[in-house]
This record gives sequence, C-alpha cells and structure tokens, in this order.
Amino acid sequence: MEQRSGQAMNMPWAYLRLPPFPQVAVRVLQLANNENVQLHQLCELISSDPAFASEVLTVANSLLYAPRYPSTTIMQAIAVLGANTLQGMCVTVGVRAYLGKTMSQPAMRNLWRHNLACAIVAEQLAATGFIDKDQAYTAGILHDVGRMALAVIQPGDYAMLLETHRGASATILEAERELFGWDHCETGRELVAGWKLPQDLETVVAGHHMDRRKDGAWDVTELVKVSCAMASSIGYPTFPGCVPASYADLLEQLPARERRVFYSDAESLKTNVAESLHAIESV
Ligand SMILES: [Fe+2]
Ligand SMILES: [Fe+2]
Repeated sequence: MEQRSGQAMNMPWAYLRLPPFPQVAVRVLQLANNENVQLHQLCELISSDPAFASEVLTVANSLLYAPRYPSTTIMQAIAVLGANTLQGMCVTVGVRAYLGKTMSQPAMRNLWRHNLACAIVAEQLAATGFIDKDQAYTAGILHDVGRMALAVIQPGDYAMLLETHRGASATILEAERELFGWDHCETGRELVAGWKLPQDLETVVAGHHMDRRKDGAWDVTELVKVSCAMASSIGYPTFPGCVPASYADLLEQLPARERRVFYSDAESLKTNVAESLHAIESV
C-alpha cells in the first residue's frame, strides 16, 4: 500500500485536486439554502444538464416513489414530489455519478450502499419527530462525502484499507490519517465548505463519528450520527471488518418520542431499508 502521509501532511489542500462533484447537484444544494428560490429556477437548473435531468426523472419514476402518473419533465416531478424531495434525488444522482466507475469495486459498492442506507434510515427517523425528513435524507446521503473523495483520489489504496481494516466504525479515521494525511471527516468538511453548502451540512459531515452529545440534544447532526451507526448495525457497514454497535444500544440513544415510534427491532428496519435500496439500485 502506498504511504503518502508525510507528503500529504505538508501539501496545501488545494493541491490534492479533488475531482469535481457534479456541478448541478452542488448548485441545487446551494439553492436550497436560499428561501426565496423560485421553483422555476430549480427546474431550469436541473434541466440545464439533460443527462443529469434524465437520471433524476428515472429515480423520480422508480419503484421507490411509484407515482401514479410518471413525470416526463422536471417541472412535473417537482409538482408531484415537491422541491425538497427532488433536491434529495439530485444529491443521490450526484453521489452515484461521483463514485462513477469506482463502483465496480465491492468496497466502493459497500460505501454507496452505506450512504444510501444511512439516508433512508435518517429520513424515517426524522419522520418520527420534528426534523425535516428531506433535510435528513440529504444529510444522510452526503455524510460520508469525504470518504467518497478519498476513494476517488486513490481508489486502490482506499479499497484496500476498507477491505482490511478491523474495529469499531470510528477507528478507521486514524488509519485514513496515516494513509492520506486527513480523515474522511476533515476531507468532507473541506469539500462542503468549498461548495458553500449550508452550515448544518458541514457540521454533519465533520462530526458524524463523534459520540452522541451527553445533553441529549437532537438535531440533524445527532440524527445522522445514529443513522450512520444504525446503517452499519443492520448490515450496511462501510467496511466488512466493522464492529457495529448493537441495535438495542442505538435505540437507547434516541430521544424518548423517537424511541417509542421507531422500529423496535433491527430486522424490520433492515427489511424496509433493503426494499428501498433495491428500488433505487434497480433503476
Ligand atoms: Fe463516516
Ligand atoms: Fe457513515
């Protein structure tokens, strides 16, 4: 495995030359930060990249959303599904495009599945309380964007690390720092800050491997921490040697209301997530 930690440590961030995330997805996320955005602006933006728009429509018409009348234009899809849901779809399409050819490797496929599973869990968990479910989905699918960047920069080395590392989920951060000079939380924070995305997304990306806050606070960052761990615990870890927390322990981390309403056993959550994953992967 190539060791470049010393070199990377001294290297100014800009020289890492991270590959660009699909511009349309970044612009959609930036627009979402602006409350005065008009639906036609969102529509024009997505439609400005026909290949991207057609992928978004495919997802919108997939089994996952199963609309009675399939949309043939982005404007229709916004009308049927709502602007916020469509935003989440754009990010899904963006993440898939970002991983691109690396997805043929099993380690990268696991990474994609972990992110998707985390987003689906986050969305459902948000729906049991007062956090916006579309915001939760978007944060879930982006939470490991730094990992994806490391994977795209050095696919072979990162895949090898994912395949061989053993331990609890957060223990991989140290191994990433040895290999790249940065871990995926720091990498993700740099990316999200550079794209000028909402501050709460930056907080999620940078802090999702920290322990749950002791004061029991519940916001989108805390929700994604638990969703990421739940995704690993129900069978979608980012690396096969991951030792996940038990589902029962993770339920204990939820606020009382969410704990009462959310799936009480891992198996039913797993079945539900597997169905949604299948619907997205089959398009
Ligand atoms: Fe992570
Ligand atoms: Fe994660």
